[in-house]
Amino acid sequence: MTADAGFSHRLLGWYDRSARVLPWRVPPGSDAVPDPYAVWMAEVMLQQTTVAAVAGYFERFMTRWPTVGDLAAAEDADVMAAWAGLGYYTRARNLLACARAVVADHGGAFPDSEAGLRALPGVGDYTAASVAAIAFGRAAVVVDANIERVVARHRLILTPLPAAKRAVKAALAPLVPAARPGDFAQAMMDLGATICIPRSPACGICPLLADCRARGRDDIDRIPAKAPKKAKPQRHGLAHWIERDGKLWLVRRPDKGMLGGMRALPGGEWTAEAPRESGIVSVDHSFTHFDLRLTLVRRKVSDAAAEGEWWPISDLDAAGLPTLYRKLTDKMLERVA
Ligand code: ADE
Repeated sequence: MTADAGFSHRLLGWYDRSARVLPWRVPPGSDAVPDPYAVWMAEVMLQQTTVAAVAGYFERFMTRWPTVGDLAAAEDADVMAAWAGLGYYTRARNLLACARAVVADHGGAFPDSEAGLRALPGVGDYTAASVAAIAFGRAAVVVDANIERVVARHRLILTPLPAAKRAVKAALAPLVPAARPGDFAQAMMDLGATICIPRSPACGICPLLADCRARGRDDIDRIPAKAPKKAKPQRHGLAHWIERDGKLWLVRRPDKGMLGGMRALPGGEWTAEAPRESGIVSVDHSFTHFDLRLTLVRRKVSDAAAEGEWWPISDLDAAGLPTLYRKLTDKMLERVA
């Protein structure tokens, strides 16, 4: 057996014994055929988000929209509200755009190649590769943050990320076994999530220890190195609490831009300058490219804009507010309670 074949043999042997049981996963050794729709949904949800955070959302989406046709026919607002709390809301808009393209342009069947998937709206390199491998058994090279870490350590790639991505992909490509590329990708993910974890990896039980080039190094926690992050700019904003008869005035954010299409409290622009007005409560929230301090201020009913809706405060859960606004309304309601 070549060294490359030995790598996937040991990895898949470990996966056959230890694969995590996950709602979107066909377990190793099963005859079940993966549902490309479920695989795609899970992979979109799992980007930038943990398995634990995704599980409930995945079940709710699959129950409410069991097929890509059901999702394509859904109301935008319902899908955005169901996504609330998962973050990175562009993914939800892309999810809908992609479902509609699969129905309109592909007769409701996902394309079965990496290139075909990559051509769908909102499907990037990672999603195309992971769905091609897991749903269609294509020998695509799947690289997520867990896999990056496993490969960078095993091959002792010391270049900092993100520059190391190319070297990781090049090192991984010859390891992908033609027979089980989907299990291979998921095995690498599981290894990275449970054994080859960022701090204090459990090398003693790793199936890849024998030829791991980072084995025994006391700096293993710092591999892969990361280029220093730029400090995020701070922004500030006001959110308006407009209440009438136990109801709160909610608006929908414009489709383009941050939290696009999501329900929200009304308020002004988010700017670099702190507001002069002191609020009732504030929350800090971190977005990818900036930090935001959002401050809640009371406004009169006559300040409610033309478009919006009165939402029962006792049923705010059902409004599908993004986490930022949810934190703010929770804080306000705690104060009042
Ligand atoms: N993270 C992203 N995709 C995953 C998958 N299919 N299984 C486990 N973890 C994942």
